[in-house]
Amino acid sequence: MSNNILGIGLESSCDETAVAIVADGKTILSHAIFSQIHLHKEYYGVVPEIASRAHLEVINDLIDHCLREASIAFKDLSYVAATYRPGLVGSLLIALQSAKAISYTLSIPLIAVHHLEAHLYAPFLEGHSIEFPFIGLLVSGGNTALYCVHDYGNFDLLGNTTDDAVGEAFDKVAKFLSLGYPGGPIIETLAGQATLKKPIFPKILADSNDTYSFSYSGLKTAVINYIHENPDADVREIAYSFQERALELLVRRLYDASRRLKIHTLVIAGGVASNKRLRELIIEKKKDYHTIFFPSPILCTDNGAMVAGIGYQYYKKGMYSPLSIDVKARP
Ligand code: KG4
Repeated sequence: MSNNILGIGLESSCDETAVAIVADGKTILSHAIFSQIHLHKEYYGVVPEIASRAHLEVINDLIDHCLREASIAFKDLSYVAATYRPGLVGSLLIALQSAKAISYTLSIPLIAVHHLEAHLYAPFLEGHSIEFPFIGLLVSGGNTALYCVHDYGNFDLLGNTTDDAVGEAFDKVAKFLSLGYPGGPIIETLAGQATLKKPIFPKILADSNDTYSFSYSGLKTAVINYIHENPDADVREIAYSFQERALELLVRRLYDASRRLKIHTLVIAGGVASNKRLRELIIEKKKDYHTIFFPSPILCTDNGAMVAGIGYQYYKKGMYSPLSIDVKARP
């Protein structure tokens, strides 16, 4: 292990506190995730104040646990990486401030990581060598965004949502139907049980030649209005039609970007990327010249390994962050 570059990654941007130790940006030596879902469930969404307190309570234990699991000590670490944007400000602060303390105490580089770039790094942790440039589709509870990734630390935002994120729309529809939280996996299961697979809701956003924007509040409202007007409607059919429309836009934008930019390597990441129907729809449209990467479901969700992994690439390039760096809510 002595020749390996070991880094620790800390993540607390939303409702998961996550830590991991990664060797050479590719081998996960240990990782731990504390999910706060049980704390937010009764509110059907993340409560920022509860989230930041919970991150603070568990992060030190997770760090200790990961060091023990990896059989290393603090002194073996070459760098510390943490997510600094985007996310809930009070939550982001917990990982970033912890990382600053580790960096200062051990005199090792601090690497502040963009959460969305970290998500797109997930397939690199599973032994894939992915060629740049690639199109990255990031779909989660807080983000729905399309990127052109030229290199580590060099990416352009092509488009993002103008209102709700796609995962948020799954959560809100599930909340309205009193199905539970998080809504994504519940709606996916119900949609799979629908017998009548009819298009109840209209297609979202017309085709456009010059935009990659997303929007989910209209679809969410259409679902809510439909339920008001049809209180006895079959919830599995509603789930099916909602999911089809929500995912169709993602697939359309992804392939639009691929076609226009002539980039055929596609990476899909974030919590919603574990949706099997999304994977199916993307694979259905795949041509021979496309190469598509989906992380395993455990790496789709927020995790520390993706932070330590992309942090390693920054470390190699000497792209360190000053201790004065602050968190940012926006992407
Ligand atoms: O990336 P992630 O774990 O973290 C946050 O953004 O917080 O994503 C969580 C989101 C939630 O909105 C959840 O409902 C959604 O991902 N999600 C899914 C599925 N699994 C999780 N959405 C659709 N289908 C799924 N199978």
